[in-house]
Amino acid sequence: MSPTPNIVRSAAAAPNIVRSAAVDPQPPAHGIRPRTGTQLDPDDRDWWRQAVVYQVYPRSFADSNGDGVGDLGGIIAKLGHLELLGVDAVWLSPVMRSPMADHGYDVSDPRAIDPLFGDLAALDRLVAEAHARDIRVAMDLVPNHTSIEHPWFTAALSARPGSAERSRYHFHDGRGADGSQPPNNWVSVFGGPAWTRITEPDGTPGQWYLHLFAPEQPDLDFDNPEVVADLEETLRFWLDRGVDGFRIDVAHGLAKAPGLPDMDLAVAQVLRHTDDDPRFNNAGVHAIHRRIRAIVDEYPGAFTVGEVWVDDNSQFAAYLRPDELHLGFNFRLAMAAFTVDEIRSAIENSLAAVAAVGAPPTWALSNHDVFREVTRYAPDDSPAGVATGTDRARAMLLVELALPGTAFLYNGAELGLPNVELPDEVLADPVWERSGHTARGRDGARVPLPWEGDIAPFGFSTNPKTWLPMPANWAGLTVERQLEDVYSTLSLYRRAIELRYHRAEFRGDEIDWYGAPAGCLAFRRSTGNLVCALNTGSTPVSLPPGEVLLTSKPLVDGRLPGNAAVWLVSGH
Ligand code: NOJ
Repeated sequence: MSPTPNIVRSAAAAPNIVRSAAVDPQPPAHGIRPRTGTQLDPDDRDWWRQAVVYQVYPRSFADSNGDGVGDLGGIIAKLGHLELLGVDAVWLSPVMRSPMADHGYDVSDPRAIDPLFGDLAALDRLVAEAHARDIRVAMDLVPNHTSIEHPWFTAALSARPGSAERSRYHFHDGRGADGSQPPNNWVSVFGGPAWTRITEPDGTPGQWYLHLFAPEQPDLDFDNPEVVADLEETLRFWLDRGVDGFRIDVAHGLAKAPGLPDMDLAVAQVLRHTDDDPRFNNAGVHAIHRRIRAIVDEYPGAFTVGEVWVDDNSQFAAYLRPDELHLGFNFRLAMAAFTVDEIRSAIENSLAAVAAVGAPPTWALSNHDVFREVTRYAPDDSPAGVATGTDRARAMLLVELALPGTAFLYNGAELGLPNVELPDEVLADPVWERSGHTARGRDGARVPLPWEGDIAPFGFSTNPKTWLPMPANWAGLTVERQLEDVYSTLSLYRRAIELRYHRAEFRGDEIDWYGAPAGCLAFRRSTGNLVCALNTGSTPVSLPPGEVLLTSKPLVDGRLPGNAAVWLVSGH
């Protein structure tokens, strides 16, 4: 998750792909069962074990009211896009009431919708209309911290040290004779100290409160039963409205190390931490997840996926025991460079991590916190470099969707969007300010989606002034344009998801590795016999035996070119 200087301003159009039988735009072949698109199957309680979940970053998806910021009405209007894509579920980044210091990850009322995005009626409509299209809806839950505008925090500020109001958060006296030093040396994930000193109601310099992220995001203290009870109320509130589950923000950070011991500052980095960092991954976190699970299990088919930045496999697996999280994000694939060693090791590690507890693995190539994969994989930011990044991102989609478990797709990846290099003056991520302008933050991955037309904002909004500016040269990347092109990245996504959903070859929880030439990897789904081969090199290689189902790039004389992947069905 470290900031990368390699960002690009321009986007190459989808590569000019020559028609091949492997990328057949025609309707599904025989043997493929059509999706019903009418009713979710209430008996399918384990759907999340092998789903495709699409992350909507609501500010950037589609704007229905012309204020330049995406909203629930925009998502409803574009549900057809998600249905065509064929995803099983959407996860909405937070839409709860928030002053937006961290774009919704600072919640002032966890049981209300922020007016910027709409209201509860709009959320209900979204859930109903998504369900009618066979798409489940998961909310983003932010239990680790609130906004400073949450009534609990304002009450804490006007209460006394040691009061019940302060005990919902981590308020402590400072160190030193006059308490002017923070209670410990912790730094914020966004940069700068993790403590802010308040002024007491009588005007004197007062206690300090903990915020692992921005000062506008005070951490809650889960040792306080009131905090746990409130979270339970929030879970029921959304589940009772028909929501199908939650992505749980900072799921590994809800409990802090007892006594709040100092951390090792030598290893501290903006947007990164290690497993033994006392700010995260403390034993007390598991009891909280068990409470969450007990409630979610009262709603058949509902699921949780936790943001778990934990490297050690057995510690990661502990979060996925049968009475804790259903799924945990594994970010190894999103962190891997486009090399056989890194990709294979990410896959092996992720499979090993969940095997011990019988949880499904999860896969993601990107999300709203990391650089978009096209840019990550691009060797440089020239048009040719971005085209290579696009080829590699398409290849990695086939790798991701060939794997057992649940795949998460970040909105805009289906269009092959690159990260955008934004000018300093428009940067809106708190990381930019908090890091003292040393880390540019995550805005480049959050630029609004291009839907149609030839000029910005490409149908995202009626307002030309979007919350982050859109590159003028995205006309070739719009949904409209890519729908017309059967070889576009969008068409590849649609076809790949459709095959994965319908074909029996994608069955089975295990994979076997094939021997492969240097620069290549190949694996087979043990039960279903699907083979996926990836060529990270530049020279075409022979295919493994089998019938070709799909390629990310046309074959060259029957061989798999560099920066490409193929799906085949092996005979046995
Ligand atoms: C993780 C979220 O994905 C990120 O966007 C947010 O800034 C932090 N948690 C703090 O809530």
